[in-house]
Amino acid sequence: MAKMWAGRFKKETDQGVNDFNSSISFDARMYRHDIMGSIAHATMLGKTGILSQADVDVIREGLTSIQEDIESGALSFDPQAEDIHMFIEAELTSRIGDAGKRLHTARSRNDQVALDIRLYLRDEIDEIKALTVKLIRTLCTMAEEHTETIMPGYTHLQRAQPITFAQHLMAYAGMFLRDLGRLTDTKKRMNFSPLGSGALAGTTYPIDRNMTASLLGFTGPVMNTLDGVSDRDFCIELGSAISMVMMHLSRFSEEVILWCSWEFKFLELDDAFATGSSIMPQKKNPDVAELVRGKTGRVYGDLVTLLSMMKSLPLAYNKDMQEDKEAIFDAVDTVKLCLSTFEPMLKTATVLKDNMRAAAAKGFINATDCADYLTKKGVPFRDAYKITGTLVGICVDKGLTLETLPLSEYKALSHVFEEDVYQAIDLTTCAFSRRCTGGPAKEKVEEQIRWAYSQLDQLD
Ligand code: ARG
Repeated sequence: MAKMWAGRFKKETDQGVNDFNSSISFDARMYRHDIMGSIAHATMLGKTGILSQADVDVIREGLTSIQEDIESGALSFDPQAEDIHMFIEAELTSRIGDAGKRLHTARSRNDQVALDIRLYLRDEIDEIKALTVKLIRTLCTMAEEHTETIMPGYTHLQRAQPITFAQHLMAYAGMFLRDLGRLTDTKKRMNFSPLGSGALAGTTYPIDRNMTASLLGFTGPVMNTLDGVSDRDFCIELGSAISMVMMHLSRFSEEVILWCSWEFKFLELDDAFATGSSIMPQKKNPDVAELVRGKTGRVYGDLVTLLSMMKSLPLAYNKDMQEDKEAIFDAVDTVKLCLSTFEPMLKTATVLKDNMRAAAAKGFINATDCADYLTKKGVPFRDAYKITGTLVGICVDKGLTLETLPLSEYKALSHVFEEDVYQAIDLTTCAFSRRCTGGPAKEKVEEQIRWAYSQLDQLD
């Protein structure tokens, strides 16, 4: 196919260069947004008298028929085309003739591509948000079922203090709620129209940038045409918000992997969400969680690609920026894939409550409560801390736990100890008497769940 810009050249493009330069293999996915943008542009050209209404009508019909044909499979993308913008324009011209050639009046591919990516990513953000909301709802539902499921809480991956599984799940809900906030903010800042920026310096035609912005649902036009065509901050911002979602999913995956090991055995994945080994018959592997963890690195890579791509680019458009698409599309595809696979994996897993409870019973995770017991009876905390440490040492030597250590041993270290110490160090008491806001007490976790639901209700 002859190039649109062939007039300026005496030779055809080298085939290798053509392939190297072409972006249609990855930007074809923006066809719907390209058509939407072109229809808005043509409508504005008609309203401002730059094009005749008759031309605008055929352009609209032509573009609509192209979209229908792409979607029905009647029209396939030409791999020789330079990009989706050139492909659609050439197809339009071949269908409607001269009117098709007028569509690009007062526009450049530079503002066209900047527009298309924004329109495309705006929709993607909505999809990522919907998947994130689904995951948060699953976390809340699971948490509702596990407000009394005692498990050890960890620091340094060492058993630390008793918590409930519900509280652990709601910590993740909080993380994903912040992700939703970041995605919402990204969309707000992204939602300005670059259309009308032209190649870089706008145009001498009497276009109406406010009109195209509002036809396409933008808050308004980007206020500087150079910025309009050369800004990819929104890709980087979205890449960063997605990286955070992935980081949260990856931490969660790491825990799922640990919990599925025989060393923990807190969780049993549904057979449909686990895999076996080709050689070891006993294996049941958490491949989904491992892949999510693995793919996190790949998404970080996409973010670094975008940051590095932009760091030395002079204003305004540079072809380097064509590289934005594969990176941000990969990030978007990957996070959607991970969210939509992780959520059902979690939802269908069996929580092995008894194993969690048994693990909580080991590791002296009620030692802080034992020290607090003394403090509440007037012993200064540092002394109480030391006495409890000594008691733990005695237990370790004797193979006992604080629950099974006889009262006489307690009393030998402090006369303050009475029979009620056993009640104070009971794991359920320990978890449930942490009643501060955000704590593991049943009513406090229920409060967290209500809060999470109310955050979801207020989403925009
Ligand atoms: N395919 C190009 C891209 O993705 C479209 C913009 C081309 N503009 C240009 N001046 N060559 O960036």
